[in-house]
Amino acid sequence: MGEAGPPLGHAAPSQRVLRPGHRRRRLRRLTLLPRPEETRRRSSRAGQLQLVLRPGAEEIPAGSSHQAPNLHRGGRLNDAVLLNKLFDIVPFSHILQVEAQAGVRYAMQNPLSYINSNIAGFVNLLEVAKAADPQPAIVWASSSSVYGLNTEVPFSENHRTDQPASLYAATKKAGEEIAHTYNHIYGLSLTGLRFFTVYGPWGRPDMAYFFFTKDILHGKGINVYVTQDEKEVARDFTYIDDIVKGCVGALEHGGEEHRKRREEARPGAAPGLQPWGTPPPSPSESLVGILETLLGTKAKKRVVKMPRNGDVPYTHANVSLAYKDFGYKPTTDLATGLRKFVKWYVSYYGIESRVKKENEPNTNDHTDD
Ligand SMILES: NC(=O)c1ccc[n+]([C@@H]2O[C@H](COP(=O)([O-])OP(=O)(O)OC[C@H]3O[C@@H](n4cnc5c(N)ncnc54)[C@H](O)[C@@H]3O)[C@@H](O)[C@H]2O)c1
Repeated sequence: MGEAGPPLGHAAPSQRVLRPGHRRRRLRRLTLLPRPEETRRRSSRAGQLQLVLRPGAEEIPAGSSHQAPNLHRGGRLNDAVLLNKLFDIVPFSHILQVEAQAGVRYAMQNPLSYINSNIAGFVNLLEVAKAADPQPAIVWASSSSVYGLNTEVPFSENHRTDQPASLYAATKKAGEEIAHTYNHIYGLSLTGLRFFTVYGPWGRPDMAYFFFTKDILHGKGINVYVTQDEKEVARDFTYIDDIVKGCVGALEHGGEEHRKRREEARPGAAPGLQPWGTPPPSPSESLVGILETLLGTKAKKRVVKMPRNGDVPYTHANVSLAYKDFGYKPTTDLATGLRKFVKWYVSYYGIESRVKKENEPNTNDHTDD
């Protein structure tokens, strides 16, 4: 859980990429999308939470917490009372479920938090969703970590995912199997997306690009990993906006697929589970080099062998099926994405003046700021 907040939680239901007529509703710690056509908008007194109701649905007085417990405080996936209440109020058509205990390394310190959120919390949501009428189509975040010790590249939907290298990966893999079960038994539409190293504004401070930025700016040394046999470590870094656009496609596809399946009374396999990265992979050295340029500061690098902490040395996605099925087409290269991240970082922490003017973002690119 990040000090700066969740990138997907902040950006995923972003209005600017939703189609006209769609409305998003987001609780601080629970992201749910309601039915687009049958909605009208009501705002909470505080303006922090907006509920969308069907015409004719029971009106919820602004700020009335007795009818919707916890709505104004955010909630946990594990809170069945809250979830049931929400489904009583709103006939959600789509859910984008990105809440989870994320992070590979932290799983060694707090393993139970992964079980609580990624398994117990997830099952709680599925239990409520399976009983809803209509059932919502659910798109949820799995992870490239499920590929674990797989060495075949680029990672594809057909590769083995039964050798997780971390408890985090094991819980995401469990989520995939659990999703399959709910699809098989209850016909619930579940699309799991295997994200690869998602980065950007509002990112997680426990991720390397984030703490490298902080440490470079503070003149602290950074550990740049190589493999045990001294090969480079590389990742398919994926910029948040590319993921957001893909998620919208997956939500639309998930809902449509679900409708067809119901009409044809066929259960079908749970869709999704393809890799969602941004090939080609970038080596850690490139990540550091780009940050040095953007920050106008040389990093104090120590090259060290990667410890056995759950991280994997190389991730690379074959995204052709994700494109075919959901129109997922990442277009942001690492330099462009990091430039946007650094712009956000220096502004968020109020340190613009410390980063030299000439290293600031190219002002020509305002496409999605
Ligand atoms: N960022 C990445 O590189 C990456 C890569 C692969 C997969 N993912 C997945 O994408 C999703 C979002 O990741 P992120 O990087 O934005 O993580 P994040 O930690 O920034 O955001 C996750 C949010 O979920 C909330 N949360 C955790 N447990 C919860 C619970 N039981 N109930 C309600 N809320 C809960 C946390 O408080 C946090 O705000 C996660 O499912 C993660 O596993 C992320």
